[in-house]
Amino acid sequence: AVERTLSIIKPDAVAKNVIGQIVARFEEAGLKVVEMQMKSLSKEEAEGFYAEHKERPFFGDLVAFMTSGPVVVQALEGENAILVNRELMGATNPKDAAEGTIRRDFAESIDANAVHGSDSATSAAREIAYFFGK
Ligand code: CMP
Repeated sequence: AVERTLSIIKPDAVAKNVIGQIVARFEEAGLKVVEMQMKSLSKEEAEGFYAEHKERPFFGDLVAFMTSGPVVVQALEGENAILVNRELMGATNPKDAAEGTIRRDFAESIDANAVHGSDSATSAAREIAYFFGK
């Protein structure tokens, strides 16, 4: 089915000047950018976005990292967009990410891991509404 998923190009990838290379991978895989905004997240915005991780030990570092510089937030649309985007990104930890994936090619660490992508249809709906409304 045609789905939408939320993608964030994180501060490390923006700083590396690879926004275009990452978006090109989405486009080459048949995902269409239907919403896109470059912005600096406030602490409150980052905390609200990652609310499900609030009790995790890495939450403070995650929020600090996501507010350390501008990000590019996008909604991507396409057939099986959620899974396709997850396959393009690779494993959360770039050390475990398969060859040819975004995280393998552009990410440094589990914190500075280049991209975020929705992990399910439920989170995609919540995350897209969080940044772009209904
Ligand atoms: P992301 O897909 O944006 O969702 C939460 C983020 O927390 C994740 O990518 C990682 O960048 C970061 N993170 C840091 N440590 C961990 C961990 N141990 N497990 C999962 N995510 C982590």
